[in-house]
Amino acid sequence: MSRSPSALLLAGAIAALIDSGSYAQGVDIGEKVFRKCKACHAVGDGAKNRVGPHLNDIFGRKAGTVDGFKYSKAMTAAGENGLEWDAQSIGRFVAKPRDAIRGTKMAFAGMEKEEDRASLIAYLKTFSGRGAGRQPEKKKAAVAAEKPTANPAIATGAEGKKELAKNAEVPGHGTFHLGRVALDEEITAWDIDIRPDGAGLPDGRGTVSLGESIYTERCAACHGDFGDGRDRWPALAGGQGSLMKERPEKTIGSYWPYLSTVYDYIRRAMPFGDARSLTDDEVYALTAYVLYLNDIVTEEDFELSSENFTALHLPNEDAFIPDDRAQEGHYANRNEPCMNDCIPGKAKVTMRARVLDVTPDSETVEGTDTIE
Ligand code: HEC
Ligand code: HEC
Repeated sequence: MSRSPSALLLAGAIAALIDSGSYAQGVDIGEKVFRKCKACHAVGDGAKNRVGPHLNDIFGRKAGTVDGFKYSKAMTAAGENGLEWDAQSIGRFVAKPRDAIRGTKMAFAGMEKEEDRASLIAYLKTFSGRGAGRQPEKKKAAVAAEKPTANPAIATGAEGKKELAKNAEVPGHGTFHLGRVALDEEITAWDIDIRPDGAGLPDGRGTVSLGESIYTERCAACHGDFGDGRDRWPALAGGQGSLMKERPEKTIGSYWPYLSTVYDYIRRAMPFGDARSLTDDEVYALTAYVLYLNDIVTEEDFELSSENFTALHLPNEDAFIPDDRAQEGHYANRNEPCMNDCIPGKAKVTMRARVLDVTPDSETVEGTDTIE
């Protein structure tokens, strides 16, 4: 890589940080700056790939080489052409990812401030090589405490799964060795939908202000500081009154009918790339914050809980109607479909699917009493 003046300046800034003895301070600031990356990258003990690859031992690592991560062609090519990550190259990349590596799929606009980049690099260095040991114990404890799993049945991490399999008695397979009866634990883990009337809501609570801090750390990188959506990630707020316009802006505030869907969606699918990592209380707090972003609640100390949940309504609820198609005449009067012994006598095979055109011709099928 060629050394641009800004890369040299950055190296200088890091050297200055180390020389002035403010290295530890830089690391602390870097940890805060890293929140911008955290939605997509993990570091530290047990760090896994998320939307982006884990960044342990990034120093000296060839670009695009973490096992099991699907890089863009551009990143793989950069590595093959000799790009190795060091303070300069990370600094340049983070400053303007898409200029540094054209075609990268890292959806991050860039980090302008040189001091921020320098602290960030100092922080990342503590997870690389011999420096990795510098990570203070208390931080490790904090990381471990970050993910309590309230309900073992819906535990996500690998340990959670092992736990389940270990404790459960797995039923034998059926006659044809196709499938088996699902375990109660499996059904519980899968059955997490929440309905508009509140059915399925877990016990719990969370305030707008707690939601805001979780949001800043884990959602804002994609959905924008105010839910306005960054780059092409979706907006979570705004658009009210736009539905009749030529370009309607459909958001939770302008379009979605029920708050239960917000809770369900966040719990089930977000943060993107790290789904099911939030506790039930965190999801309450985030849902409360999404209400706040949409001006549906206005107090920062508003607390959303399993008790007051169904009292809250989204503005567009009345524009939706229950789906009552089953009651419409042509459905309602229909006879129960026949499921067995539907033709008199013995059914006979008249053609093999392999020979027959896969899509049956409706004219020949209709009115005949054999299934072709
Ligand atoms: C919206 C998600 C997202 C955010 C935010 C993000 N990254 Fe990335 N990052 C990615 C993806 C995806 C890749 C893989 C890029 C590719 O293959 O082109 C990546 C790749 C990288 C790489 C190259 C890693 C390798 O193994 O070659 C580095 C270094 C990196 N990111 C650092 C950062 C830092 C530092 C920040 C915060 C300032 C950050 N990223 C923010 C998604 C993100
Ligand atoms: C790495 C980027 C990323 C992060 C971080 C992220 N999301 Fe998302 N989010 C997405 C994408 C992409 C979609 C759209 C998915 C789709 O349509 O299939 C989405 C959709 C949503 C939606 C539905 C929006 C709509 O109108 O369809 C909600 C609500 C949401 N996210 C909440 C959150 C919350 C809360 C967090 C933080 C805990 C979070 N997201 C973190 C990328 C992200």
